[in-house]
Amino acid sequence: MLRKFGIAGLLLLFFLTACQPTPTFLRSASPISNHESNLYWIILIMALVVFVLVEGALLWILVRDRKREDDEQLPLQIYGNNRLEITWTVIPVLLTFTLFIMTVRTANAVAAPPQSTSDLNLRVVGHRWWWEFDYPGLGIATANELHIPVGRMVQVSLESVDVIHSFWVPELSGKTDVIPGQHNTMWLTGNQPGVYYGQCAEFCGTEHALMRFRVFVDTQEDFDAWVANQQKNAYQPQAEAEQAGHKVLTGPCAACHSIDPGEIDTDKSGPNLAHLFSRTTFAGGTFDLNERNLRNWLKDTQKMKPGNDMDLKISPKEIDELMTYLTKLK
Ligand code: CUA
Repeated sequence: MLRKFGIAGLLLLFFLTACQPTPTFLRSASPISNHESNLYWIILIMALVVFVLVEGALLWILVRDRKREDDEQLPLQIYGNNRLEITWTVIPVLLTFTLFIMTVRTANAVAAPPQSTSDLNLRVVGHRWWWEFDYPGLGIATANELHIPVGRMVQVSLESVDVIHSFWVPELSGKTDVIPGQHNTMWLTGNQPGVYYGQCAEFCGTEHALMRFRVFVDTQEDFDAWVANQQKNAYQPQAEAEQAGHKVLTGPCAACHSIDPGEIDTDKSGPNLAHLFSRTTFAGGTFDLNERNLRNWLKDTQKMKPGNDMDLKISPKEIDELMTYLTKLK
């Protein structure tokens, strides 16, 4: 079976994956990845030129000086040529030195933000296996999906509550380690509105591969609207079923989840749910956030994402009630 469909399957996979291109710094959408991709292309072109010249000269000499049929004796035996020796020592030294200077300049440009401060601060907290995104200045706590306004510099501080993670959005920035007991900092600017995929880039356990996130680079208008909505209090339960769901959420669920939008810097081990349905994904950016997926999740989280901290034991009736209320949390 596998052998029969192997090639066709591989081709299909190739075309399917081609539809959603892998995020790469070569499709840069920020000043940081601009610097990185520029350096990449310069190095690649320099290496190509050297390769073509050196290999071309080699082939040319091999063909020109090959042994011919009427050759009866050894060719002229020579040893050393000062001019050549100096040339092929000096040129590589100059090239390496140029690359060194360009690499240092790029590293400095990537490390140094264009301005020393920003009025937009983002706190990233790594959890096994999801991302907490807090905006201390705005009183917003969210998860797995962060929003930034286009063209504005965001000052980012990173910390972890458990093990070492790594924050990586290829199209926007390189990797920065997220280390328990240490505050790392970086900066982030998006050049064009869009959605950019991020991924934990440091092995952190079973679900490391499912510790994803998304960066929404919004127009200033969209960002302001997003902020205004996130700052609102969570939806107040109205109908009886909603009230029942609210009771479960603020009861057993409250040990790990908050629905207070401004609750930042808590020891809660789960994401803030005040505006859950304003997000498009859940469980570390792993599943599309829709009623069917969320209901399956509540039924058996360990089946969908084995090893995660959520081990919920509630009745089908409570799941129904929870769903009624959760879906109102826009
Ligand atoms: Cu977190 Cu890998």
